[in-house]
Amino acid sequence: MSDNKTFYVTTPIYYVNDKPHIGHAYTTVAADVISRYKRMCGYDVFFLTGTDEHGQKMELSAQKQGLKPIELADKNNERFRALWKELNISNDDFIRTTQSRHKEAVWEMIRKMQSNGDIYLGEYEGWYCTPCEAYWTETQLLEGNLCPDCGRETAKLKESSYFFKMSKYEDAILEHINNNPDFIRPESRRNEIISFIKEGLRDLSISRINFSWGIPMEENEKHVIYVWVDALTNYLSALGYFNEESHRKKYWPADFHLVGKDILRFHTVYWPAMLFSAGIPLPKSVFAHGWWTVDGQKMSKSMGNAIDPFWLVEIFGRDAFRYFLMREVPFGLDGDFSFKALIHRINGDLANDLGNLVSRSIGMVKKYFDGIVPAYTDKESIDENVHNAIAKSANDVDNHLSKLAYNKALLSIWESISVMNRYIDEAKPWVLAKDESKRGRLGSVLYTVLDGLRAVSHLVYPFMPETALEIRRQIGSDDKINLTCQEDLSKVCLLKSGEKLPESTSIFPRLDEKEMLEKIYGKKEEKKEELMQEDNLIDFSTFEQVEIKAGKVLEVEQVKKSEKLLKLLVDVGDGGRTIVSGIAKSYHPDDLKGKVIAVVTNLKPAKLMGIESCGMILAASNGERHFVLELPESITAGTKIK
Ligand code: MSP
Repeated sequence: MSDNKTFYVTTPIYYVNDKPHIGHAYTTVAADVISRYKRMCGYDVFFLTGTDEHGQKMELSAQKQGLKPIELADKNNERFRALWKELNISNDDFIRTTQSRHKEAVWEMIRKMQSNGDIYLGEYEGWYCTPCEAYWTETQLLEGNLCPDCGRETAKLKESSYFFKMSKYEDAILEHINNNPDFIRPESRRNEIISFIKEGLRDLSISRINFSWGIPMEENEKHVIYVWVDALTNYLSALGYFNEESHRKKYWPADFHLVGKDILRFHTVYWPAMLFSAGIPLPKSVFAHGWWTVDGQKMSKSMGNAIDPFWLVEIFGRDAFRYFLMREVPFGLDGDFSFKALIHRINGDLANDLGNLVSRSIGMVKKYFDGIVPAYTDKESIDENVHNAIAKSANDVDNHLSKLAYNKALLSIWESISVMNRYIDEAKPWVLAKDESKRGRLGSVLYTVLDGLRAVSHLVYPFMPETALEIRRQIGSDDKINLTCQEDLSKVCLLKSGEKLPESTSIFPRLDEKEMLEKIYGKKEEKKEELMQEDNLIDFSTFEQVEIKAGKVLEVEQVKKSEKLLKLLVDVGDGGRTIVSGIAKSYHPDDLKGKVIAVVTNLKPAKLMGIESCGMILAASNGERHFVLELPESITAGTKIK
């Protein structure tokens, strides 16, 4: 393998405050496909993925779950790794930003930027969106001080901060984008970024002092390095870029950073500015893919519609899922996930077109040749249809994949599949089989198809590695046929004749749509509940079980021998019931008499200081005193509060 034929592709490093979903699976599968393809064509590939583990969002999520940030990171990190295993992802490394190799690289990066005079201490005043870990100016915010990216609330910050002189690189970045048409892909995104830069770049606040979960500034430990400066450096730290002896330095600059459209700005403005400052070459291309919705809606935990990729693999199999992701939507555009669409793809493309071609071809070899791969003796010009189709697909796949047009690459492979299905229909082996004198031709037709399947198996390999190997096993193909360059993909007549075919089963059985949907929706409810339990969320029907009513306070007295308790007689539409409440330190009995307040009315009665209490008064406490929830006096006792 020659040294200069390297190929370096990266996925974003995923936040580990949460579990992986299909959006994460999407980028990683896309990176896997291109990596497998390039390896197959003889490239020395380095495919990197990993996890982004620092930042305020992580710190807050961990706090909410009663864990230390590193415990949460470890837990979710395992989930990402397990998913990549499930999906047959062939990454060469997995970087975690909590690893010391990464911390060292971030420090080195900052040192380089510092030595170029690009970092200074100042004061930051502006707005911060924690879910996006992004800074905004007042003018960029939506009404109500909401984040222009995600629409959530931002917080005003005024604190001491280190700054990076990003504004200094405005022209250099614009020039780079203009001179390198492939730097930002697809084209439409490029224009978006150009307009963003033209609005003017400000210096970037690169440190925070209001939380501690991150990499500290070397010279001032109170300051935690901004999570994006930390995260972006992963693309270098995994290469050991600053380590002279690292044999991975050769992979830089990266051929592709694959990212979602929401994080393109970080990769095509912040990252290039940092690299310019540190004197490091820029990546060759940053490709932004679109976002998946589910049944037309944004995926979100609170909607309970985030699709669990583990579950999809369990039901549909890893290759069908991989195929769907790559085939359904052009890389770069938004797409919608639905179970119906997935089932249609499986039944149409995989079961009908590919699966059927494999089983009918093998079936005929078993029937007419006792399962022995026949020889290619009696050639006819119609065979060229298959040979030409393979050559064209191989060429088109290369073209399309060089632009990450995954769906087009698959379409061109499926053209070969349909040419082969048509070839069988035209050559009519079942008619040839009736004439003993046509036995040579019958064998040649079946050989052409089996050999075509061998070639197709190579072409689909990057997308569906397991299926490709299974097809090869079923057609008795010698796996030692090594591909060393792209041209090998178009070669035909490589299959060895005379081999005995092994046992085979259908590679993609047809799915019964109705049965599958019932199974899925049944399971979906279970999943939804699991998800909610995990989050401490309750659904509406649970909330509805709590009966809250307006109650008029008829009488109040202090409970004898208790400093804390008041005994109240409250009418909640039932004429009056006794409620004991721990609010005596905040209210004198006279304060509450005649007031209309909020009461939980369907709690099981409980005895307090020997008095049976039938309900609970709702109150908030600021730590010093209680504030009973009062309602206007015009609200009638017994009115339901919803
Ligand atoms: N940690 C940062 C990336 C740092 S890279 C130096 C981050 N992490 S993330 O986990 O929030 O998102 C990772 C990727 O998932 C992003 O590319 C994002 O676009 C992608 N997706 C998140 N939801 C998605 C969909 N619904 N559909 C497709 N991709 C989506 O951002």
